Amino acid sequence: MSFAYAEIKLDNLERNVEAIKDILQDGVEILAVVKANAYGHGSIEVSKKLSVLNINNLAVATYEEAMEIKSAGVKSNILILGSITNEEIISSIDKNILFTIYDISQLYFIDSLNLDSISFHLKIDTGMNRLGIDREQIIESISIINKNPNLSLKGIYTHFPESNLVDSKFTESQIDEFDKIIMSFKNAIPNIDFFHISNSTGIINFPKSHLNMARPGLALYGLVTEENSEIIPVMELKTSIVKIRNIKKGDSVSYGRTFIAKEEMIIGVIPIGYADGLPRALSNKGKVTCKDKNCDILGRVCMDLTIINLSEIDNPRVGDEVIIFGTEKINANQVADLADTIPYEIVCGISKRVKRIYK
Ligand SMILES: Cc1ncc(COP(=O)(O)O)c(C=O)c1O
Repeated sequence: MSFAYAEIKLDNLERNVEAIKDILQDGVEILAVVKANAYGHGSIEVSKKLSVLNINNLAVATYEEAMEIKSAGVKSNILILGSITNEEIISSIDKNILFTIYDISQLYFIDSLNLDSISFHLKIDTGMNRLGIDREQIIESISIINKNPNLSLKGIYTHFPESNLVDSKFTESQIDEFDKIIMSFKNAIPNIDFFHISNSTGIINFPKSHLNMARPGLALYGLVTEENSEIIPVMELKTSIVKIRNIKKGDSVSYGRTFIAKEEMIIGVIPIGYADGLPRALSNKGKVTCKDKNCDILGRVCMDLTIINLSEIDNPRVGDEVIIFGTEKINANQVADLADTIPYEIVCGISKRVKRIYK
């Protein structure tokens, strides 16, 4: 194939779901985070597979993302985690999509609506200082919800900024604080279904944070780092060599001539560039795999093409497969390190032009 494509291994997604379930206590529900097109893996296909695996609670960032999944016929419960307009709140109520109230003004807005049953989750900020009502607004929020029988609080939640740090005291204190917040809500409002706080690293590093629902994203896609070898990558990004050339000592490669050959070399051109999501930061730094061997990226990554060193490859040919990431040899976390970013940005950045092939 003369283009880059992403193989999405749904069996690996299944394996990761099982690994996450093994970490969680029985009875803890998974709220699968499928925002940003399921971190680039394809939200519709991933949501359908999750539904087959009996994971029927999904989280997205926006109303549009929720509608995309719903319109594809997925019957799961969908919670919008991110920002939402008042118009979208009204549409969400109409379409049976759960949304997050993250500002007290939104609570007053839904309180003013003359609608029957308004189901939502309430986010409380405990230290991220992003979305969520302030701690000081908890009593006021409880009072608004308590007075209006049309408001049906389905869940309360908060978010960790550093649960990736195993011995984070800050995370411990958030868990303790949220426990107290839960008690205040439970004492005032019976029948709240869900209490949730943990993202992937929260699930792995802070068992106390599991409560009765957990929100994994990265772990579903197999991108948490080595500590948990049960969790394996779902996406394998691949392409193949489209041109081979021999260059001499002193020849330069790609824009800006930032790579100069120190000796004779065999180089190959692969049809993937920064417009596909291969970070330009990998210029002269990144590695790909061909015939089980690592090959350096030479010179600048271009928009649609990249040049790699094939000198160590046995008898390279046009058409030979090249793996960008997604195997034991090279994963998205290593690519992210080399590009000085995080694996989230690598997978979310794989652009629309890269075909997703589901296995
Ligand atoms: C509110 C919220 N919960 C859960 C997640 C999932 O996090 P992770 O992918 O680290 O598991 C995210 C991701 O950004 C998030 O914003």
